[in-house]
Amino acid sequence: LLYEGTLALSVFTAVLGSMEFGYNIGVINAPQKIIEKDYNATWMHRYNEPISEGTLTSLWSLSVAIFSIGGMLSSFCVGFVSEWLGRRKAMLINNLLAFIGGTLMGMSKLCRSFEMMILGRFIIGAYCGLASGLTPMYVGEIAPTSLRGALGTLHQLAIVTGILLAQILGLESLLGSDELWPVLMGFTIMPTVLQMSLLPFCPESPRFLYIIRCQEHHAKSGLRRLTGRQDVGDMLAEMKEEKRRMDMERKVSIPELFRSSLYRQPIIISILLQLSQQLSGINAIFYYSTSIFTKAGVQSPVYATVGAGVVNCAFTVVSLFLVERMGRRTLHMLGLAGMCICAIIMTIALALLETVPSMSYISMLAIFGFVAFFEIGPGPIPWFFCSRVVLSRSESLFDIFRLQDLCGPYVFLIFAALLLFFLIFTFFRVPETQGKTFDQIAANFHHNLGGTMDMDLDMDLDKPSTELDYLGDDSN
Ligand code: GLC
Repeated sequence: LLYEGTLALSVFTAVLGSMEFGYNIGVINAPQKIIEKDYNATWMHRYNEPISEGTLTSLWSLSVAIFSIGGMLSSFCVGFVSEWLGRRKAMLINNLLAFIGGTLMGMSKLCRSFEMMILGRFIIGAYCGLASGLTPMYVGEIAPTSLRGALGTLHQLAIVTGILLAQILGLESLLGSDELWPVLMGFTIMPTVLQMSLLPFCPESPRFLYIIRCQEHHAKSGLRRLTGRQDVGDMLAEMKEEKRRMDMERKVSIPELFRSSLYRQPIIISILLQLSQQLSGINAIFYYSTSIFTKAGVQSPVYATVGAGVVNCAFTVVSLFLVERMGRRTLHMLGLAGMCICAIIMTIALALLETVPSMSYISMLAIFGFVAFFEIGPGPIPWFFCSRVVLSRSESLFDIFRLQDLCGPYVFLIFAALLLFFLIFTFFRVPETQGKTFDQIAANFHHNLGGTMDMDLDMDLDKPSTELDYLGDDSN
């Protein structure tokens, strides 16, 4: 039981970072109007006149979107930081950013400064960018192959729990009030403290220790702690094989990644999968659902937002159970198709709202469905493919252009079109990775390049599970 404890503790500790990420996604949704009121008060205090509608919208959009910009910038550092400090120490030090960000946001009202709020959102965004790379990486590396799917979904489960927690705490009767919203913002420091106190008890990733640091001895003892087995020879052999292959490959630059036929395909797939998550429209819901529900004529928009959070959590759990059974590719496609249909229903419902008032229920249900399908596939799945590729987040573009203002109820048609595109792409291009080791996944890509396969990779063709079927049934 001791080893199960170590694995569970390490995964729990790591995903506290994901929870923090989710918390900061969900936290600015419900209290938007209340915080805007304070921005206005600050403006009055400084300039003796009320803030203009346009300036307020810009300041608020900036407060929301700058989170993604911070995340985008820091996510470029995940690869470097995780190799330099190691996975565990990188997570530990990253907490400093959460401290600084949380403090700035929590103190901004007291200091009458929306600049502090905006800067705080930027810094906490930077924290989240690193955490959303480091957590799946660490969890993926310490999890035994058979559990990698289920444990990997815990990253997303922690994100959605964080979102829900923020939505509940953000209710006006709890912390989403005029006086208490700074506490709501500063609360993000709590998981940080917990993570910092637990990390020293978690082992460093054996894969990192062996492959990057060449510390066979430490890697072995890490594997023993995590598996509870004395004999970890087979796992070590698997890592040895991976290391041998990596040592043979030279380091490639980013432009080279796209030029070389060997890397282009996995990179493009990773990027497109992550884009399918970020451009699906889900964050239009999680950042702005309260105002979307208001526009849709829903009676209590804040509670509907919490409802969306509950559906979000529930379906992440569903996905957790499905992922090792149905295969990732199938679930991803199912999710994209469902989201696409819900987006169309939502658009029709919003367009008919004026003439048919009961459409507000339909649009609410469509939003719930949209969220549910997201968590079946596009929410959890891209993390599996991408944990070894560093990607930027692109949702900020949608905030910056305020698409919602531009297209009214038709904005979700854009998402529907994008979703359809990603569905087609997944169908034709994305392989199944269920039950495969890191090494097998890499080998599969090379294998599927057909003519460019090299000698070294031929070895893997002996392993039955490396057979990859792009179009076929993936529930093997
Ligand atoms: C994923 C996305 C995030 C989104 C969340 C919703 O974690 O990365 O952007 O808000 O799912 O559950």
